[in-house]
Amino acid sequence: PFCFADGQIISTEKASIHPMDLGLIRGYGIFDFFRTVNFQALFLDSYLDRFFASAEKTFLPLDYSRAELKAVIQDLIEKNHLKEGGIRMVLSGGVSSNHFSPAKGKLFIFAESLIFPAQEKYDKGIKLLSLEYVRPIAEIKTTNYALPVWDSMRWKDAGAEDVLYHMNGIISESSRSNFFIVKDGVISTPDAHVLMGITRKNVIELAGNVQIRPVSMQEALNADETFITSTTKVLLPVTQIDEHEIGTGRPGPVSLDLLEKFRKLER
Ligand code: PDD
Repeated sequence: PFCFADGQIISTEKASIHPMDLGLIRGYGIFDFFRTVNFQALFLDSYLDRFFASAEKTFLPLDYSRAELKAVIQDLIEKNHLKEGGIRMVLSGGVSSNHFSPAKGKLFIFAESLIFPAQEKYDKGIKLLSLEYVRPIAEIKTTNYALPVWDSMRWKDAGAEDVLYHMNGIISESSRSNFFIVKDGVISTPDAHVLMGITRKNVIELAGNVQIRPVSMQEALNADETFITSTTKVLLPVTQIDEHEIGTGRPGPVSLDLLEKFRKLER
C-alpha cells in the first residue's frame, strides 16, 4: 500500500517518524478517519472540517489547504485501488525541545481496508460494559485511546463488544462511537463530553427530531432501544448494557429503520 508522508506519496512500509515525537512519548496527536465508497470519499468535507478543527484546538500547525488534502486523498484512492475502504489522516505532536510542548508534527495519510462488524452483530445487537470515565478534551479527535485499549482486555471476558462511558450517572459515549437511546419513539443522544461524530450528525439529520441533551444511565437501561454510531460501524444496535437487557433484547424498529436510511445515503 501507498501512503502520504512528509509531503510525498510513498510505500507505506517506508514511512517513518522520529522516536521522540510527542505522538509516541506523550500520546499527543490528532487523527480522523473516513470511508471510501465506490472510489469516492464519503462525507469528506465534514471529516476535513473536523480534522482542521482538531489541529487548531491542539495547537498543531497543519500546513496543507483543503484543496491540497483533497488532491492527495484522491491520488491515494487511485494508487491503492481503494474502492471500499478507509482513509486515516494522522497529525503527530511533533518533536519538542522540552519533550512536552506541542510542536510541528508530521502528517500521514494512510489507505486501509475496512472490516465491518459481522452481520450477526447487526441482527442480534451487541453488549456494552459500563465504565465510570469521561474522555478528556472529548470534542477533539486526539490519538489518545490508552484507556479503552487497556480496558478492551476486560470486554472479551464479559462477552461485550465495547464500553459505555458515564460519569455521575450521565452517559457520554462509547470508546469509538456515539450513543443514542429511543423511548416511546423519541430519540435522544448525549450533548456533552462527546466527539461530534459525523455519523451522529448524519443520523440526527435523518431522524429529524433527536433530543440532544444529558442522557442518564437509568434512562438507557429503561429505554426501548439503544444503539451506537460510528464511521466503521454505521449504526449498531445495543441490546445489553452490563447484565441489563434493553427493551425486548432484540434490535428495535427505530434502529433498523435508521440503519436502512443511512445505507441509502451512502449510495
Ligand atoms: N472513531 N467517539 C469517539 C471517541 C470516536 O473515536 C469516534 C470515531 C466516534 C464516532 O465518530 P464518527 O461517526 O465521525 O466516526 C465517536 C473512529 C471510527 C475510530 O477510532 O475508529
